[in-house]
Formats: sequence, C-alpha cells, structure tokens
Amino acid sequence: MSELNSIVLKIIKSGKGILAADESTGTMSKRLDEVNVTSTPENRLLFRETLFSSSCMTDCIGGVILYDETIKQISSKKNKITELISEMGSLPGIKVDTGAKVLAGSPDENVTEGLDGLRERLKEYYKLGAKFTKWRGVYAISKDYPSKLSISSNAHALARYSALVQECNMVPIVEPEVLMEGEHSAEDCLKKTSEVINKCFEELILHKVDLKGIILKPNMILAGNKSKNKISNDEIAKLTIKCLKNSVPSEVPGIAFLSGGQSEVEATQNLNLINKYNDTNFIMTYSYGRALQQSALKFWSKDLKNIEGTQKIFNHRSKMNTLAAQGKWSKDLEI
Ligand code: 13P
Repeated sequence: MSELNSIVLKIIKSGKGILAADESTGTMSKRLDEVNVTSTPENRLLFRETLFSSSCMTDCIGGVILYDETIKQISSKKNKITELISEMGSLPGIKVDTGAKVLAGSPDENVTEGLDGLRERLKEYYKLGAKFTKWRGVYAISKDYPSKLSISSNAHALARYSALVQECNMVPIVEPEVLMEGEHSAEDCLKKTSEVINKCFEELILHKVDLKGIILKPNMILAGNKSKNKISNDEIAKLTIKCLKNSVPSEVPGIAFLSGGQSEVEATQNLNLINKYNDTNFIMTYSYGRALQQSALKFWSKDLKNIEGTQKIFNHRSKMNTLAAQGKWSKDLEI
C-alpha cells in the first residue's frame, strides 16, 4: 500500500468521515453573524477548538479540513492546532485554493484560483503538519450552464492542484461541487454532475495523479432547491450511486460527500441510504461543513463558555454520520 493510500484509509475507513472546518474568514464571519457572535480570531478559534477537542474526534472524525488562519493558531492549552487534532487521533488537512473568481469568457460562471505559488505554500503547510488538502471547483446549473469552458477549466485546475499536492506527499481532496441552488430536476443534476466528474478524471489521469491517493468530494444527486419535482431519499441515494459508478474509476478508494445546504438529518439520512444501496467498492462517507456544525454553533452562540454542551451536540452529529457511513443509522437514534 502506498503512503498516500494509507493516509486516505486512515481518514475514511470504518465509518470515519471528515469535518470541513475550512470556512474562509468571510464565510465564518457570516456564520457567526447569523447567530449574533462577533467574528474575532479568538471567537473563531474558540468554537473550532471546542469541536477539535470533542471525544468524537477519536472514533468518528478521521480528518479535519482547516483554513489558513486556523492552521497557524495556537490552542488555549498552548499547543499547535495540528497537534491538538493529531493528539485526538484525527488527521489535519488544509484548504489550499484561494476561492472562485469570475471566469473570463463566461462571466456568469467561476473558476477556482490558487495555483500560482502553490508548490511553496504546500511545503509550508506540510511543515505545519497537514497530511491532506482540499480544492473546491464550483458549478451552478441552469439551461446553458455549467458550460464546457467552466467544466474544462475547473477540471484542469483541480488536476494541476492534485499533482502538486501528491508531489508534496499529501492527499488531495478533489471537490467538484455542482450547486443545489436552482429550479433544475434531479435528472439535470445527474447529467451535469456526471459530465463534471468525468472531465475531472480525464484531467487527473492526464496529469498522472495517483488515483489510489485521492479522495473525491462530490455533491449528492438532488433536485434543485427551487425545483417543483423533488425526489425521494431513496431516489437520491440510487441516482448518486448511479452517477459515481459511471464516472469514477475503480482505483479511487473513497468518496466523501459535501452536505451542500441539506439539513443535518437529511444529509445523514441520504448518506445512510447511499451506504445501504452501495454495490460498489468505494468507501462512501461524509465531509460535511454545515451539516456537522449547525446545531453545535447555534447552541454555543447562546453561551460561549458552555464547551461541554457544545461538544455533546457535535459528538451526537458525528456519531450519527459515522453510523450512516456504515448504513447503520435510523431516525429513532436522533434526539
Ligand atoms: P458543506 O458540507 O457545508 O457543503 O461544506 C462542505 C465543504 O467543504 C464545501 O467546500
């Protein structure tokens, strides 16, 4: 087994999943504003440190994706954040893209930037303790979009990023996110997501990326949030598996879904059904941001000192998703 493949398995095997705590300062400030907490570096660290020192970090959370600010912060116990995460039994990772910018030639769409100087930044993150990285390409669905241009430029960037990350002995998370905003049907989502993922693998192969040493982070196949034709959770699971079966090469060890705006329980329920119906060799788990943190953040915002209560909520959510990643979750386990 290669070193990269063994990192992948440490992060996602046996029902373990990923906590996406890599919100940029802008996004995190928005989340904190929504619950009336002032967004300061200290408050951002306090919430995140509360999560990172929860007991579920040992049994459920195989990896944590950090943001540049957090990976350089020192915990209240005076150790590095990457050390705190490692001591809890999880692996630290880092978001390395610098965000989605308007795509020249198709100004209604975006392309993700961050390749310039990436090799040097990766070396720095590696020294800080990162074992894996994340880069997110983002695509909206409408009649004419995503365009071939956006599909191909984002795939190219994801592949160049992945090759640089593996060169630096870290595992790249490849995240092509087809957004759920819009009126589109689940069939449209299936068609577009398949096209996006196929192109990503075409580029990853061209750039000689070791597919056994990556984690794919896709969206589930859902009808748009404004669609009149919603589909059942069973159908979501079946279409998601159909999409991945047809577009992901079998060497890829695992797939860790983003939650993308689904509610906490919905994201858990869909993951559980995906695993019930999973007739592939892919590990299917979670890499959730909002669907792991929402309730914990809301609770914490009422009393920033209530660490134990906040951790209890985060532990519960993580446990539910770890059960779902093994197809063992049921609704009556929810509190
Ligand atoms: P959500 O689960 O909130 O979609 O976040 C996952 C993520 O990392 C988006 O890039």
